[in-house]
Amino acid sequence: MSSRQAGHTERCGSVSVEIGVDGRHFKLDTAKSTYALAVTEEGYLGHAYYGSSVRHLNYDQLLRLDEYPQEPRLLLREQSRFLNVFPFEFPASGLGDQRRCALELEDAQGYPGCDLRYQDFELIRGKPALEGLPSSYASEDGALTLIILLEDPHLKARVSLYYSLFDGEEVIVRSACLENLGNTPLQLSALISASLDLEPAAYQVLSLDGSWGRERQLNLRPLGSGCLEIDSRRGISSHEHNPFIALLAPGASQHQGEVYALALCYSGNHLQRAELTEHGRVRLQAGINPATFGWTLQPGSSFCAPEAFLTYSATGLDGMTHAYHDFMRSHLLPEPFARSHRPVLANTWEAFYFNFNEDSLLKFARQAAQLGWELVVVDDGWFGERHNDESSLGDWQVNPGKFPAGLGAFARKLQDLGLSVGLWFEPEMISPNSNLYRAHPDWALQLPGRPISQCRSQYVLDLSNPAVLEYCRHSLCAVLDTAPIAYLKWDMNRSLDCAGSLYLPAGRQRELMHRYVLGVYSLLSYLRERYPRLLIEGCSGGGGRFDAGMLRYCPQIWCSDDMDVLERLYIQEGTALVYPLSTISCHVGAAQCSCTGRNWPLDLRFLSALLGGFGYELNLGALSPGELESIKGQLKLHRALESLLLCGDYHRLLSVRENGERDAWCVVSKDRREALAVLIQIKAKPNTRSLRLRLIGLDPALDYEIEGQEGCLGGDELMHCGLPLDTLGAGAQGRLWVLHAR
Ligand code: DGJ
Repeated sequence: MSSRQAGHTERCGSVSVEIGVDGRHFKLDTAKSTYALAVTEEGYLGHAYYGSSVRHLNYDQLLRLDEYPQEPRLLLREQSRFLNVFPFEFPASGLGDQRRCALELEDAQGYPGCDLRYQDFELIRGKPALEGLPSSYASEDGALTLIILLEDPHLKARVSLYYSLFDGEEVIVRSACLENLGNTPLQLSALISASLDLEPAAYQVLSLDGSWGRERQLNLRPLGSGCLEIDSRRGISSHEHNPFIALLAPGASQHQGEVYALALCYSGNHLQRAELTEHGRVRLQAGINPATFGWTLQPGSSFCAPEAFLTYSATGLDGMTHAYHDFMRSHLLPEPFARSHRPVLANTWEAFYFNFNEDSLLKFARQAAQLGWELVVVDDGWFGERHNDESSLGDWQVNPGKFPAGLGAFARKLQDLGLSVGLWFEPEMISPNSNLYRAHPDWALQLPGRPISQCRSQYVLDLSNPAVLEYCRHSLCAVLDTAPIAYLKWDMNRSLDCAGSLYLPAGRQRELMHRYVLGVYSLLSYLRERYPRLLIEGCSGGGGRFDAGMLRYCPQIWCSDDMDVLERLYIQEGTALVYPLSTISCHVGAAQCSCTGRNWPLDLRFLSALLGGFGYELNLGALSPGELESIKGQLKLHRALESLLLCGDYHRLLSVRENGERDAWCVVSKDRREALAVLIQIKAKPNTRSLRLRLIGLDPALDYEIEGQEGCLGGDELMHCGLPLDTLGAGAQGRLWVLHAR
């Protein structure tokens, strides 16, 4: 279906799009929110409203068309002032809007400025995909997409704004595409995916920031005058700043109040910003980072910005989290994996590093099989002459010294033990000490005349070069086609420095950062299509590329190299705020954490790893018989809880980040009949009274049995009075409750 009919409301389950009778007013409704746009008499597209559901709107008032400098109206309007206050839906720079703009464009002579006026709209059923970029998806019956066309006749440029609404979801997917309709090239220096001009309020800005070993920590601060930016310039979404931003209205917190959020579906250099303007309004934006971007748009060609996932919650961060989790599980993750069983994996990295051969791996595998693990991941060191991290990236041929009969024979031996095999790759990299580099030194990113800076003794491949992509495709498939590999860990261990391409012409170097990401996506989508059942786990030196873009191809992403229980509580709280639990790869590590040197008991390491895709990464030889028995029990428990963890609603109960002592969360099934709750106490104050843990999301009218306990407790009692924590001592310890409605 495609319609241009004005005065019409199109519905799709819980969502609808209403087109005004004049074809110039647009009201988009989800079950809980309304998003509204209107076109002024001159053709400017304004953002009228976003918030809780409203039946009727006074657009002119919301756009402040009756206020100075819009009044007296139309011809007497003073253009420059008007352009600097009007709540543009997609602001373009250069003519008078002095705030941060979504579009920056120059003509062939280099003159800036763009004047976008409304042309038309189109309403279609379903959700179109963006070419070359990760896209959310839906069936024709599952979504509505409104496309609004704006044009600058002088530049002969057209912008199409996309808004997709999904039945049953609270996320609106936005993106923008620019077309050059003229005969001369246009220079694009910014095309932001979504811009939102919000009503004045004293917002707080929330972002997920950190570094290696402490990724995605919650960072909340007031928005003062000026512009607050969160970005990456490293070529990956980065450990430092996740492509996500939220604004919390006054009074908003975990479980109450208004929250506006944008998560960008992009894995390269991104920018999120919130600008408190001189007139008190707030402009919120997310998109490709203009600081490292430029694009020559040839006549007849177009450029699309990645998707941004927009959501509004009137129930605090909890509502935002549910909106993102539900949406990503149903409309982003690769379908075969979204809600289905993931193998419990045994990763060899911290058990062996580079120090293994087929015999030691088989010994490890035999123990793994006895414990009930399902997949052995050979993490690094299996190829070329890779005996440490100083060589061989790019030489993806199995090392015959380590696997004398080849990978296929090794994989079959594991299959005989009931195990599948996973392999580590770092496809985007090239070691200076590799056959690949000796044959193709021009394939590394570099700045002519300068030495290439090394990081972990490696360079980055130029993925803007089609010949390089062809090599990557070919060399990966050569391995995947010769052995039954069930899982691939896609690692990426450095920033894109010395980011020059010998392939791209001189005037096009600013296209490199984006072209590189398009190269990553083209490889990943090729693999997804060719091996639909291959489980690809994303990784970037831990969690340096944990973003919605990667999740379109990788159903799970390694969350952090840091497996310290306390550090993981911080990292996982931030990660689970946006991303579904099934996507957060968590391992039970060794007793002594290699990142912090701190020791943690096995049961706490298990409880902390429950919040995500589950596995183990430790030396089995170092475990006592008692610990091995406990691991068998953990696996049984995990198996029983897995579908609840994959499909249920996650609620944060306590945050150690806030209280310094304990962390707790629960997951409740969609029908509210099953639930689990986890509490991890790091320490407690002596000589205090016992605490109670109040659960969230249960059915108050149901009674619940708690495994291992006599009798039943009401859902209302569990949520309002809470579970007793009286036998917990003052030291580090944890608890798991499993609840079933009677
Ligand atoms: C960095 C990853 O984060 C680790 O898990 C491991 O895969 C190493 N790379 C291997 O080199």
